Amino acid sequence: MTETDRRMMARALALAQKGVGQVSPGPLVGCVIVSSSGEIVGEGHYVFEELNHAETIALATAGEKARGGTAYVSLEPHAHHGRTPPCTDALIAAGIKRVVAPIEDLNPKVSGKGFAHLQAAGVEVETGLLSDEATRVNEAYLHYMRTRRPFVHLKLAVSLDGKIATRTGDSHWVTGVEARERVQELRHAYDAILVGAGTVAKDDPLLTDRSGLRRRRALVRVVLDNHLRLSPDSKLAKTTSEAPVVLIGRSGNTDHLNKGVEILSFDPSDLCLVLTELGRRSIQSVLVEGGASVAGSFIDANLVNKVTFFIAPKIVGGSDAPSAIAGRGFERMTHALELERLEITQRGRDLEITGYPAGQSM
Ligand SMILES: NC(=O)c1ccc[n+]([C@@H]2O[C@H](COP(=O)([O-])OP(=O)(O)OC[C@H]3O[C@@H](n4cnc5c(N)ncnc54)[C@H](OP(=O)(O)O)[C@@H]3O)[C@@H](O)[C@H]2O)c1
Repeated sequence: MTETDRRMMARALALAQKGVGQVSPGPLVGCVIVSSSGEIVGEGHYVFEELNHAETIALATAGEKARGGTAYVSLEPHAHHGRTPPCTDALIAAGIKRVVAPIEDLNPKVSGKGFAHLQAAGVEVETGLLSDEATRVNEAYLHYMRTRRPFVHLKLAVSLDGKIATRTGDSHWVTGVEARERVQELRHAYDAILVGAGTVAKDDPLLTDRSGLRRRRALVRVVLDNHLRLSPDSKLAKTTSEAPVVLIGRSGNTDHLNKGVEILSFDPSDLCLVLTELGRRSIQSVLVEGGASVAGSFIDANLVNKVTFFIAPKIVGGSDAPSAIAGRGFERMTHALELERLEITQRGRDLEITGYPAGQSM
């Protein structure tokens, strides 16, 4: 494949990302149509509400100029009748000669069938170009398709000495404005946000998506709360009309709570069950925002798919001040959870470090 192929696929991936917050439970898809003379004649990206898929939007702009051209699609085109007719039919009917798509769509209705349909119709299919990048763009969707459980991204803000609050429990704010704005951007990309009862009791957080960006489904706010002790005066309980609140716990009187607070009655220490239940509600991705106990439980259960720490250049000190991760922890340094595929970005005075647990398949 050529440098032009690489550039066009990078463009298709950038288009795909315009759909962040607007596609779930579907995938992010971008498409670029290049004519036989090498000119970009059509572009599109998928947004759930608009029904049309990236390929059909791009083909509609290209019109007759698509004939004999190449379609760069960030994910395998689908060949079945779903909410829309098959995109493979549209590509074939438009006379596309070559389709470049990096990865298969793991949706069992699509997987491999889209490529096979195109090839059977005589369309040249090339896969693998920028496949790591394409996988990353759809990491939550692909994980959900594989496991039917949400992709778990653990995010915490810590001081240089690893504290998430002071010894009095004060955590406002560990990081500066730029890092906090970045957190809103992260929330925007997720279907749900999850915290423990401790964080709700101590911080009374709102946990909404305040990125200002358009989103299709409200961010679901999940609290692991064994004794269902959420206060009716908490910001969460008072804002159920803005975004749903789901409490997961075993027992407790909930008569005092606003009817908008949904209660799931089971043991929240069974995190596999928590994730299965969220997956059943077609929640593809969860941003776990702490606190230390919940973060520790997810690490101990080996259920974290991605980690982001914001590190502030300040020292909090105090043996009673909570550090980022509680739980059991690892016995030996050689067993510690190592992150790979690291990305380190400066956010104002703070650092954002993101990585994936080593050895996890992409
Ligand atoms: N800097 C940051 O990024 C950040 C983020 C969040 C919080 N914080 C700080 O962290 C502190 C709170 O941390 P925390 O450890 O006390 O609270 P937490 O992790 O938010 O909540 C822990 C509580 O959640 C409940 N829970 C239910 N299921 C659980 C499970 N599977 N695993 C763990 N907990 C479960 C338990 O209470 P019940 O038995 O009552 O259900 C448990 O005591 C606060 O000071 C807050 O300000 C900092």
